[in-house]
Amino acid sequence: MSTMRVNKHIIIVGAGASGLAMARELRNHNIEDFIMLERKNNFGGLWNYESTTGEDIPIDGITWDQVGAKPVYDKLTTNLSQKMMGFHDFPYEEGIPDVPLMPRTAVTNYFIQFAKHHQLDEYTKFNTIVQKCEKDDGADNWYVSTLSKDGRKTEYLCKYLVVCNGHHSQPILPKLNGMQNFPNRIMHSCSFDRSEEFNGKNILVIGGSVSAGDLAVLMLREKPNKVFMCRRKKPDTMFRKITMGSVNAAIKRGAKMYNSMPLTLKSNGHVIFEKGVEEQIDVIICATGYSYKFDFLNVHKLDLLEDGEFYGYNVKHLYEGIFYSKDPSLSFLGIHK
Ligand SMILES: Cc1cc2nc3c(=O)[nH]c(=O)nc-3n(C[C@H](O)[C@H](O)[C@H](O)COP(=O)(O)OP(=O)(O)OC[C@H]3O[C@@H](n4cnc5c(N)ncnc54)[C@H](O)[C@@H]3O)c2cc1C
Ligand SMILES: NC(=O)c1ccc[n+]([C@@H]2O[C@H](COP(=O)([O-])OP(=O)(O)OC[C@H]3O[C@@H](n4cnc5c(N)ncnc54)[C@H](OP(=O)(O)O)[C@@H]3O)[C@@H](O)[C@H]2O)c1
Repeated sequence: MSTMRVNKHIIIVGAGASGLAMARELRNHNIEDFIMLERKNNFGGLWNYESTTGEDIPIDGITWDQVGAKPVYDKLTTNLSQKMMGFHDFPYEEGIPDVPLMPRTAVTNYFIQFAKHHQLDEYTKFNTIVQKCEKDDGADNWYVSTLSKDGRKTEYLCKYLVVCNGHHSQPILPKLNGMQNFPNRIMHSCSFDRSEEFNGKNILVIGGSVSAGDLAVLMLREKPNKVFMCRRKKPDTMFRKITMGSVNAAIKRGAKMYNSMPLTLKSNGHVIFEKGVEEQIDVIICATGYSYKFDFLNVHKLDLLEDGEFYGYNVKHLYEGIFYSKDPSLSFLGIHK
């Protein structure tokens, strides 16, 4: 199959909340010569739950369940209000329950309606993965290579590249002593879907933030045998104290929290904690968060990443957290400053 070549002034990678905000701004400024490229089949980013199935990918010799899969699960509700999650020019429809919780489907529908309202369909190509974005030193344009689900390849040439690829697709996977020989399931929270699946089991949730607490609460609303939790340290920053409301809720519902990581996972399915405490565990869920991932960019050449506290890295050389200061034709939305 031959490769198509297309020129565009601006390319947006990703059609989630960030990509939609960018596209709306371009339309508001009568800029038409742009395209938004999205690997899924609809708008909404990670809230587009239906189209994500995930697959097993071995990492470091361990087959993690559905690594790289969807971070959104069946009974997810929002933890922010409609006012905080909506676009200023497009309120949520009346009648949708708001504070404290909205069902995930309300958010998905909202993004689809927002795109329709701004006619963003015309500017979007779905089922298209951006594979590589390159710019030669001193050149005027970015080369953007894409692959569509039907196998078609396209090479775009654009002046400006806006990266809106989100930061919840690359799970952080802790290294646990003895995990290679642990006989029972070890998964990341991105593979969690239905809480009923864990009924009758002894579960260990690793992590001390929102996912850890929310997953534990959801399972405790069903009929698990026991839910244990552990975190590498007690919350010691204001940010962590804010994000641990759901952890406290899980403890209130009966989860047992260890304030240290497991010392060893044993080949008989037991997990050893400090002071020799031993628990039999059927499933370990690592709710250990996500890291930034820009595998379509040459992050080394751009000198883009350094180790950091949030999402595994700091994204470097960003003016106001958006424009790549060495070459502002590259910009990012949704990065933590
Ligand atoms: C479990 C969970 C619950 C959350 N709950 C809330 C909440 O209640 N309230 C809140 O405000 N925030 C919440 N968030 C934060 C969430 O990040 C934001 O709500 C929002 O989805 C961020 O939008 P985004 O567009 O930046 O990223 P995403 O929604 O991740 O969208 C990125 C898009 O880029 C596409 N993409 C990525 N790489 C490529 C590529 N190479 N080629 C083509 N397309 C690509 C993806 O398919 C995706 O559609 C939650 C996050 C998680 C993980
Ligand atoms: N709407 C909802 O109800 C909902 C539900 C789930 C998630 N979310 C959102 O999703 C996003 C991600 O949340 P998250 O909880 O998945 O991730 P997170 O907030 O980044 O938290 C990750 C947790 O894992 C721990 N951790 C990271 N690496 C570790 C390692 N190597 N070993 C041990 N522990 C490790 C962290 O410990 P430290 O504290 O020590 O760093 C932290 O407690 C957030 O924006 C959150 O608000 C929302």
